[in-house]
Amino acid sequence: MKKRLKNGLMAAAIFGLVAGIASPATAADQSMDKPGLNPNQILNVAHRGASGHAPEHTLPAYELGEQMKGDYVEVDLQMTKDGELIAMHDETLDRTTDGTGLVKDDTLDEIKQLDAGSWFNEMNPEMAKAEYEGLQVPTLDEVIEKFGKSANYYIETKSPEVYPGMEEKLLETLEKHKLIGPNNPSSKVIIQSFSPESLKKLYELDPRIPLVQLLWYTSPATITDAELEQYKEYAVGVGMNHNQIDEAYVKKVREHDLLIHPYTVNEKEDMQKLLDWGVTGMFTNYPDRLNEVLKSRR
Ligand code: G3P
Ligand code: CA
Repeated sequence: MKKRLKNGLMAAAIFGLVAGIASPATAADQSMDKPGLNPNQILNVAHRGASGHAPEHTLPAYELGEQMKGDYVEVDLQMTKDGELIAMHDETLDRTTDGTGLVKDDTLDEIKQLDAGSWFNEMNPEMAKAEYEGLQVPTLDEVIEKFGKSANYYIETKSPEVYPGMEEKLLETLEKHKLIGPNNPSSKVIIQSFSPESLKKLYELDPRIPLVQLLWYTSPATITDAELEQYKEYAVGVGMNHNQIDEAYVKKVREHDLLIHPYTVNEKEDMQKLLDWGVTGMFTNYPDRLNEVLKSRR
């Protein structure tokens, strides 16, 4: 493991020298000097877009995320049978489209035939809009085509063990759109995953991209200094269910100079509490609510 990270860093140093830029000595070293990673700037992450208002992971949800001034739009990734990255939370099509079965068993053409919006109207009649009917599942490429560099992207590699080549395809897409690379601020993109293997692979491929380790606990969260130092080798921050943490947990993470972005925080009371505890940002389906809370604290 150490050797892999060392190799990644060496590659970055050589690349940095060639490109005339400095590369970070460790993952955490890059955190302070980039706008999205400044711990004093609370990050408002529009979770699956502004998914409290529009069907998750559709272009209207991402548009609302921008309009509501989310700092980043969150994009979960799955991969089709023919190797295309699409914006979708689940490994299966059933919940958020009128299709069924596994994403990995269908081609992009097949998935493009599906309706990714009507389920939202049925589930949320009070927010239903005719324009949501028949929405297509967007590819990552289409999302970036639409929002370009005006948006910041907080991208999750979902189920990477199911999708060999997912990380390479992701970096290829980001490079194509010049969102990463020597002349681009790498904090335009943050990559997150529950899979340490996926993040370590990404770190090896390009150690300049900020990475966030997502964590899952089955009971109230505890975390050790040793664990946090391990994450720091490749990540700039951690994210976890906000219901599983307390003030001491947040303090401990911050003592290690890691960012902490809990998910998914939808109630103003919880937002206030987490901000009091010292989190550096959070995922929310309601970026408008979080901005109201942040404004009330200025
Ligand atoms: O990525 C942060 C949060 O979204 C993780 O949970 O299941 O909503 O992707 P999930
Ligand atoms: Ca996610």
